[in-house]
Amino acid sequence: MPAYLDYKFEDSPAFISTFDEMPLWSAYFGMLLLKHIELKQDLTVLDIGSGAGFPLLELAQRLGNTCTCYGLDPWVNANNRANEKIKNYAVSNVTVIEGSAEKIPFGDASIGLIVSNLGINNFSNPELVFKECARVLKPGGRLALTTNLNGHWQEFYDVFQTVLNETNNTLLIEKLTADQERRGTVASISSLFTDAGLKVTRSYTESFQMRFLDGSAFLNHYFVKLGWLASWKEIVPADKQEGVFIALEKNLNALAAKSGCLTLNVPMAFIEGERA
Ligand SMILES: C[S@@+](CC[C@H](N)C(=O)[O-])C[C@H]1O[C@@H](n2cnc3c(N)ncnc32)[C@H](O)[C@@H]1O
Repeated sequence: MPAYLDYKFEDSPAFISTFDEMPLWSAYFGMLLLKHIELKQDLTVLDIGSGAGFPLLELAQRLGNTCTCYGLDPWVNANNRANEKIKNYAVSNVTVIEGSAEKIPFGDASIGLIVSNLGINNFSNPELVFKECARVLKPGGRLALTTNLNGHWQEFYDVFQTVLNETNNTLLIEKLTADQERRGTVASISSLFTDAGLKVTRSYTESFQMRFLDGSAFLNHYFVKLGWLASWKEIVPADKQEGVFIALEKNLNALAAKSGCLTLNVPMAFIEGERA
């Protein structure tokens, strides 16, 4: 009898402590990745920047037990949570490794597929990470990543720029532009593949919209504070932060009032490359 027929849902504090709906931000990108990656038997898969286990666990389950999956991330607490999910979901083909993609703990030509959902903007040395990926990929092996692109949340950045213009300090505008340009374009990310010796095989772009009632809701969202607020604050000198952020919130609220909510567009890409 197939083992899954014995499955019986058992509610427990341990189960619910790791049960969650798709995370707000990661889900869009993960779905794009899952839509396009090649599914094959007997793959050895590495998810770099696997965080709390998404899409690592989803991918491992979609591929099934002929495939062996590894997650690699230096973030100890996130790895612990991923391990709790592995245990509670009883997924047997995944192992999480604490470490950096700048020094991948696998031998040369040992991995068939490397994925990374939203990793690239977080690697301090992406060039080195791509070189490491090229080293550990088998000939014909693929690296597939998803990322937000330059232009994400443009509506927010336009309002931020208007507010900074009022400070008459061009340095602040330059810092804002640099913050936006930390997200690449399909061309700039493709160059990272080719510079590392990987041939770009496919790329797809899509965009999605995020709606918030207004700027106040947006700026107070826990994930916005966690993921972005620190880099926005760094743009503005400490003695100007309060005034700038009050004006920013007010202008975002005014923009939202015109159409009933604050709508932010997010361009994203799936890019895949292959080792010759
Ligand atoms: C935005 S999170 C994405 C996490 C997850 N893949 C998701 O889709 O939600 C970026 C992840 O990259 C990890 N990271 C940062 N530098 C890294 C490195 N050098 N090697 C591997 N992972 C890294 C972070 O710890 C974090 O978990």
